[in-house]
Amino acid sequence: MCAARRPTVGLDFGTSTTLVASTRGLIPIGNDTTFPWMPSLVGYADDGTVVAGENAQHLPDGQLARSIKRSITEGRDFVRIDVPTGAKDIRTDALITELLREAGRRGARRGRDIGVGSLVRLGCPAMWDGRQRRRLLGAAQRADLPVVLATMIDEPVAAGIAWLDRQRVHTGRPLRIVVFDMGGGTLDLAVLDVRGANHKDVSVLAALGIAEAGDDLDEAIAADLDIELAKAGIDIDAIENQPRARVWLRDAARTTKELLSSNDEEPIVLSPQVFGRAAEIWYTRGQLNEVFMPHMERAEDAVGLALMIARITESAKSAYEIARMPMDLLVQGVDVVLLSGGMCRIPYVRQRLEWLFESSTKVELAMDPPENAVVVGLARAGDYGTINMYRPAFDVLLEWNRGQEFRTVYEAFTPLVERSQIARGEDDLRYTRNGRDLSLPRNGKGKLRVVSYSGERLRATIGSRNLDGFPVALSDEKFGFSIYPDGRIRMTDGAGTFEGRVDDWHRLDAE
Ligand SMILES: Nc1ncnc2c1ncn2[C@@H]1O[C@H](COP(=O)(O)OP(=O)(O)OP(=O)(O)O)[C@@H](O)[C@H]1O
Ligand SMILES: [Mg+2]
Repeated sequence: MCAARRPTVGLDFGTSTTLVASTRGLIPIGNDTTFPWMPSLVGYADDGTVVAGENAQHLPDGQLARSIKRSITEGRDFVRIDVPTGAKDIRTDALITELLREAGRRGARRGRDIGVGSLVRLGCPAMWDGRQRRRLLGAAQRADLPVVLATMIDEPVAAGIAWLDRQRVHTGRPLRIVVFDMGGGTLDLAVLDVRGANHKDVSVLAALGIAEAGDDLDEAIAADLDIELAKAGIDIDAIENQPRARVWLRDAARTTKELLSSNDEEPIVLSPQVFGRAAEIWYTRGQLNEVFMPHMERAEDAVGLALMIARITESAKSAYEIARMPMDLLVQGVDVVLLSGGMCRIPYVRQRLEWLFESSTKVELAMDPPENAVVVGLARAGDYGTINMYRPAFDVLLEWNRGQEFRTVYEAFTPLVERSQIARGEDDLRYTRNGRDLSLPRNGKGKLRVVSYSGERLRATIGSRNLDGFPVALSDEKFGFSIYPDGRIRMTDGAGTFEGRVDDWHRLDAE
């Protein structure tokens, strides 16, 4: 189960910050070597050179790509940037490559661990599909980082590993963990079932996310500040350089948000250069909590969905029944909720989660500070066996004509259960494809092929034989292929119906 045994370095390419760690701990890659992280900023300097990290921080907004990771989450290929010849659409992947190259360079200079024979393990948001994962991988490869898809793991899973790795007492009892990783761009959630004598076997029962986190709260606070300014007689729309004022306000919103994690109220001192006059307004933690409330409600809905999927993954109970479980039942049996990501410094996050879960559930930081958890877990993940039962790390292909033609029956990292299926209250939840969807030939002979990304061969059977190489009687009408969240596989072809399962899923049945 464990991925490659080469010395591993973790690289957490975050929406706001990028961090590097070795198995010995964080490698500071900030500009002045004492600072642990590099801002995930990249842009074009006045002379047309690409600059990344702190060097991009003071570029005019038009020359800068902020939160570039979102381009993968949102499926955007280009970003418009001012270069010396004028505004130009730049490929976002090329900018990501530059940023990763800079992080890798700094890591190698300061950490001794990135180099010949080492392996860089990347994290990615739980919500990313196979294509998005491969996109980041491609950008990292072009930055000359030694990365492979097999070692990429979901960010919240890495945060869970960072916490597990610091536990000195192992009861041997299985642990149920919910990871709540709220960063700048995404909220990533994972429900983990952890087993084994040293709690080294981590099964991912559910991993999902929503693209709403720190950046969105900054926008919401900025909108609130806009109203506060209007009350103070300042109309942003009437300001000469309105775009600049809006950028200023968003930056102020972010700084104020961060300061309000430790203080009850904060002054915002307006820049006379931007606003045409000097003024000061005050913003309180109470105001912030009010603006944050709807975001936290959506976050809690996502937690509920993750818990539902986890139950569907492991339980023989009807999905119909689980989909109707009230929240107070869904939250039962969780040992610990782990907080990861910079946004979890906000006291309101912990407060809401303590209210949501039972009093016997501990709510604690995956690591202190919480924005370090993902990268430290990425570096340590080689010691753990992780299996993602919700987004399995293998492709199933159906090939014929001596492999010259094929269809992807299941693409790695596709969720086995879609949110919409649960919302519709469907029973018999599973991933399924039929011969018509796949435009299969009417007849002929084919074979199933399995491509595993877990670093090991997938042990899966069907009709008492290996899934890989299983013969298929092609039929566009009859062919059907399903994978159930508990690991069962069912295939119908021109010759009949065959059942099987993925062996690794059995780990849960051992209890
Ligand atoms: N003290 C603080 N109080 C509140 N928010 C904070 C604090 N420190 C950082 N943040 C916020 O945390 C977010 C960044 O967190 P983090 O570095 O974990 O994100 P990321 O890993 O870059 O993003 P993602 O994981 O979403 O891609 C930003 O929105 C930042 O403003
Ligand atoms: Mg992060």
